[in-house]
Amino acid sequence: MYEHIVIVGAGQAAVQAVDTLRRRGFAGKLTLIGAEPWPPYQRPPLSKKYLAGALERERLLIRPPGFFADHAVTTHFGRRVTDIAPRERHVRLDDGVVVPFDALLLATGSHPRRLPVPGAELEGVHYLRTLDDADRIRAGLTGGGRLLIVGGGYIGLEVAATARELGVEVTVLEMAERVMSRVTCPEVSAFYEAEHARRGVRIRCNERLRALHGDERTGRVRSVLTEEGGEYPADVVLIGAGVAPADELARAAGLECGNGVVTEAHCRTSHEGIYAAGDCASHLSRQYGRHLRLESVDNAFEQGTTVALNLMGNETLHDKLPWFWSDQFDLKMVIVGLAQGYDAVVMRGSPAARSFSACYLRGGELIAIDTVNAPRDQMAARKLIAAHARPQVDRLADAGVALKDTV
Ligand code: APR
Repeated sequence: MYEHIVIVGAGQAAVQAVDTLRRRGFAGKLTLIGAEPWPPYQRPPLSKKYLAGALERERLLIRPPGFFADHAVTTHFGRRVTDIAPRERHVRLDDGVVVPFDALLLATGSHPRRLPVPGAELEGVHYLRTLDDADRIRAGLTGGGRLLIVGGGYIGLEVAATARELGVEVTVLEMAERVMSRVTCPEVSAFYEAEHARRGVRIRCNERLRALHGDERTGRVRSVLTEEGGEYPADVVLIGAGVAPADELARAAGLECGNGVVTEAHCRTSHEGIYAAGDCASHLSRQYGRHLRLESVDNAFEQGTTVALNLMGNETLHDKLPWFWSDQFDLKMVIVGLAQGYDAVVMRGSPAARSFSACYLRGGELIAIDTVNAPRDQMAARKLIAAHARPQVDRLADAGVALKDTV
């Protein structure tokens, strides 16, 4: 049994590990280190309710303020780990403090991908990952300017919807031929493009960011230029161009890394007693037979739990069906499973009535579903996908037939 467990990164995976360890009776020392000055908070509202001003800061906290002290967790918030010594078994903080460990969990998350274009450092250009980022963007929006968003993915479209509801003029530039192409099929992209357009968001696809121009006097961004020759005026710019795993510490320490910190099926890294969970981890999935790096609260939650169980000596595989969500306007999209490699999509329900699902099949098997305002399909799909079900296509296409009865 380990005596001192140290967790680097203070997000969802970390909180879940702490919670599970203490709940299961881990009586040893626990230390939690997070670079941001606040206790762990939820990030999803940063592009939605919090950005809209409809949720107070305190409501973002994953656990109430006294939780960590009450659970005998030593916290270092506002401190960065500068290096990990896997053999000597300690981590060093940016104030020089050395924290020894018996076991270590890397729950360092991910960083927004920075686009190396001229003008990216101008005043008024933002990325969205932290509370501070959200506060700065909100201040920019309430100033009443034009918002230009680079990237029509989750972050870009969620912020577009929030800003539009605040009455802001919004343009989205997406380099692919359609929005959300990383995660969804053309039918669902087309639906979202139409919904945004209907609410006054201007979406321009096939436009790749080239440079940002600013006002020489104030240093503030004024317009955005694209490779295709477009020029768009802007007072505030948000770049939502995807994320990269925060695996720098692990790499520097010699841990095996690929697209993130490589782990086997129990979330163990290449080094004994060191685990990784959440956005930073490239996890060997038994179900999918390959390494997956997933960006979702659910994944962080489940892997954090799995690590805690393994740390306590209960051999536990992480092999859950992944799911993701995105809220835009009054549209609740939930994606269950991974659609990669699908060979057919069957649509159920009515995009016109704004409640429908896209069912992804491979060789007749249901492998994933995107549900939009269709919670019943979502619940039923989890069971069918997990069971490798092969629905009848004509019944699947008929929203009058309950999803569970399509097999
Ligand atoms: N110009 C225009 N568009 C670009 C550029 C560019 N130079 N580079 C990337 N894009 C587009 C991509 O084509 C993609 O559609 O940006 C979009 C990024 O979308 P996502 O991959 O969904 O990433 P993002 O929206 O940043 O969300 C990142 O944050 O909400 C969380 O965990 C969630 O995975 C999500 C993560």
